[in-house]
Amino acid sequence: NGVSTEARGALIVLEGLDRSGKTSQSSRLLSYLEGLGHSAELWRFPDRTTSVGKMISSYLSNESQLDDHTIHLLFSANRWEKKSLMEEKLKSGTSLIVDRYSYSGVAFSSAKGLDIDWCKAPEIGLLAPDLVIYLNILPEKAAERGGYGGERYEKLEFQKKVAAYYQILRDASWKVMGKDIYIVHTDRQEGNISLLFSGVLFSFSLLPS
Ligand code: TMP
Repeated sequence: NGVSTEARGALIVLEGLDRSGKTSQSSRLLSYLEGLGHSAELWRFPDRTTSVGKMISSYLSNESQLDDHTIHLLFSANRWEKKSLMEEKLKSGTSLIVDRYSYSGVAFSSAKGLDIDWCKAPEIGLLAPDLVIYLNILPEKAAERGGYGGERYEKLEFQKKVAAYYQILRDASWKVMGKDIYIVHTDRQEGNISLLFSGVLFSFSLLPS
């Protein structure tokens, strides 16, 4: 009769500084959810495969220069262009584990000196995550991890500013961007997370990577 009996998927976002361990924790979480028999996919922003994503990628690798406001809006546009597909996936019961989302958008651009409220504005109306997991790591520790890859933002002094803005967003528990924010210390301790979503209890731990 066309009525889906499957529960909606969960939108789970991982946030943190560059080299904070988001990528490895995302795959760990994916295996965990699949192991429970849930349908899940790994996504990331920026999505460099779209035409907007290619402009972002060329900016990040210093092949092109853009005004700070312009690149901010491109990052946001890159989330907007994926909104309907995200919505479809979630509706059909697939959970999405997303490596970076609006928190990155606001923290990185604010750290460059743009007004934080101006930075938040284009994010309004995007899908709000059910869970944001913030991987907390000292900027110095992150910098030690195999070195940065040389992209535009991968500099210790800048990452320290980004960390300060992430802190501001968490303190404000930015409403648009998440109901539950869990802070996981990747460099020190195990973080245990339990999340009741659509009647299903997700309970997992993220280990130091
Ligand atoms: P990545 O290394 O996770 O692909 O992210 C690329 C860089 O882009 C990273 O330094 C964080 C930054 N970024 C923003 O400045 N704004 C955004 O909206 C996103 C998603 C990433």
